[in-house]
Amino acid sequence: MYVEVSPNEYHVLHPRPVYLIVSRSRDGRLNVMPASWVSPVYDDPFLIAVSIWSGSLTHEYVMETGELTINILSEKHAELAYKLGTESGRDVDKFKKHGLKPYPSKTISTPGLDGVLGFVECVVRDKLRVGESTLFICESKAVHVDKEVYEKYGWNLSKTSILLHGAGKSFTTTSRLIRVSK
Ligand SMILES: Cc1cc2nc3c(=O)[nH]c(=O)nc-3n(C[C@H](O)[C@H](O)[C@H](O)COP(=O)(O)O)c2cc1C
Repeated sequence: MYVEVSPNEYHVLHPRPVYLIVSRSRDGRLNVMPASWVSPVYDDPFLIAVSIWSGSLTHEYVMETGELTINILSEKHAELAYKLGTESGRDVDKFKKHGLKPYPSKTISTPGLDGVLGFVECVVRDKLRVGESTLFICESKAVHVDKEVYEKYGWNLSKTSILLHGAGKSFTTTSRLIRVSK
């Protein structure tokens, strides 16, 4: 037996992995925000759709430079992800406030973040206006992973856990590995 909920009840598609999006202004200022509306959409080249609200500073910077990095988080980053998503780089230098260290990218001017599980260097290939947000179709130019916890075909979930966002202040993790037989 089901009950009908609002057609806008987007939480039915949560929890979702949450990433930190690092962006850079034309004149070199850095900003960072969490985003969970991020999805792979093609494999060769690897394309990723990222939905970013047009009022955010991240949106302004990505529009300016056409670059961003997608930084992959583990459960230890939950508090940080929440804080970075409840303040804007328009009001505070988030790198300075949270003691974040950039990690140089190989192909773009926008860095990743030191201390995350890994990050993807992206350039914007396409944009689609969706309501008050923009869906950026981003092409991966380089992928960096923590070699201690990454193996062929992905993250070793017995050694690390990927952070997921539920709703509001609730986060969860990929804490159990399920292997199917065939
Ligand atoms: C867990 C979490 C996930 C979020 N996911 C998104 C998202 O996918 N897209 C988006 O535009 N904003 C998302 N937000 C909100 C932005 O992170 C928030 O508006 C942020 O303050 C923007 O920062 P900025 O102005 O410094 O760019 C999320 C916030 C949290 C806490």
